[in-house]
Amino acid sequence: MKKQHRVLVLDFGGQYNLLVARRVRECGVYCEIKPWSLSLEAIEAFAPDGIIFTGGPATVFDKGAPIIDKKIFELGVPILGICYGQQLMMQLLGGSCRLSPVREYGKIELTHEGGALFAGIEKTSVFWMSHGVEVETLAPGFRACAHTAGCSAAAVENPARKLYGVQFHPEVLHSVHGTEVLKNFLYGVCGLKSEWKMASYSKEAIEECRAKVGDGKVLLALSGGVDSSVAAALLHRAVGEQLTCIFVDHGLLRKNEGDQVMDAMGVLGVKVVRVNAQERFLTRLKGVTEPERKRKIIGEEFIRVFEEEAKKIGKVDFLVQGTIYPDVVESGVGGESVVIKSHHNVGGLPDYVDFKEIIEPLRRLFKDEVRQLGIELGLPEALVWRQPFPGPGLAIRVIGEVTEERLAILRDADAIFREEIANAGLDRSINQYFAVLTDLRSVGVMGDERTYDYTLALRAVETQDFMTANWSRIPYDVLEKASNRIVNEVKHINRICYDITSKPPATVEWE
Ligand code: XMP
Repeated sequence: MKKQHRVLVLDFGGQYNLLVARRVRECGVYCEIKPWSLSLEAIEAFAPDGIIFTGGPATVFDKGAPIIDKKIFELGVPILGICYGQQLMMQLLGGSCRLSPVREYGKIELTHEGGALFAGIEKTSVFWMSHGVEVETLAPGFRACAHTAGCSAAAVENPARKLYGVQFHPEVLHSVHGTEVLKNFLYGVCGLKSEWKMASYSKEAIEECRAKVGDGKVLLALSGGVDSSVAAALLHRAVGEQLTCIFVDHGLLRKNEGDQVMDAMGVLGVKVVRVNAQERFLTRLKGVTEPERKRKIIGEEFIRVFEEEAKKIGKVDFLVQGTIYPDVVESGVGGESVVIKSHHNVGGLPDYVDFKEIIEPLRRLFKDEVRQLGIELGLPEALVWRQPFPGPGLAIRVIGEVTEERLAILRDADAIFREEIANAGLDRSINQYFAVLTDLRSVGVMGDERTYDYTLALRAVETQDFMTANWSRIPYDVLEKASNRIVNEVKHINRICYDITSKPPATVEWE
């Protein structure tokens, strides 16, 4: 089989490391992130066509700073050092670094003096910088090929050895020509082509799953979210009828969502057992108002229902998980930067189901790649571009007790809000948007009648990672339209508020 060309991203703990990998893949080059401490043997075994050292919070001349075996520079593999990565390269190869007299942070104008990294790029443009240390003397054989007002070695090169360094962050979109710098390194220096395409990935992944599963039985917990749906579509292509999906409909989904999931899977011919368990969930949630208790009850009940259904199917050989690449990296397996996650999806790992092995067919993909794969596999756009939805569903968007009546009110109001966001063409730029039914009632007037009904809150946020988020500046006329429609079309709502808090100090969800 033809070797898959690939780049190794060595992670020195910087905050943009996942972005580096994403940008490389966006250039059509497959890459993986590994911790900086990876042994030289492991690096050689990975056989990269290029290596990128990321930035990191350490200072090269400090004791205990992450250092790499110098023999890496003898492998003959092109290397690009970014920020800390550049400083490390200089320090190890006989140059030196110092604290910068001027700390550079933000958008900084940079001028280059040619060289492979800057081929085709205008002489002066803005790049994103974030550093308090800089290269003081260059390592032998290197020349500085770019500077800013405060930094004389904003980029360095040793073309004979194919070693390059940049003080700026090409992966950050504020770097106007950042992607071109990366492309110049990948295509121009490493000699790679844009060949990492979903169509070919999909073919390989299907074959891989087929070979692994053989004639075994496969089980998948379908939530209706993007990841589990794409995983289901992929496995179905690979093993057809040997795959069974269990879709626990806890009755806490958005309007018509359960049916949409079934329709999408039906079109592909995926075998899905839908369990309508709303009554069970609502019975257990009766009288419960505390958010964490709601989460716990739903999580437990989900496992119970799934277990009962799985038992009916009998012994399975493989259980499919929709783990994606950022989960792998964030859990510390891939790289150095560890993010602690506070949320779990409903269900987690059903450890009681008797299976031989786990299959994680999306383990190497970023979210946007999972979406591309979904389209490739024939899933509808609406499902593939679905906004994130919490496992406990609408139960944490009905403040106070969750009842069938209150869920119905919220479902209708939420559907109108989403429809208006889509009508305004904002559904891809706003990362999450939904309605919350509060337990507050207030006085209103409709026609000549006094009303005493619920207050609804609308929430919309823009964010990259959901760890922090800004409230979205939705145009007033869009809010007005949604508000008018909701009070007119949905009974028992007579007042609507728009949530104008960011995260922090608020969270995205109200509970
Ligand atoms: P917060 O409210 O913590 O939400 O700012 C951040 C992101 O996580 C989602 N979220 C959850 N997802 N189970 C989930 O699967 C949960 O219990 C849960 N709580 C919040 C939320 O929708 C947002 O995308």
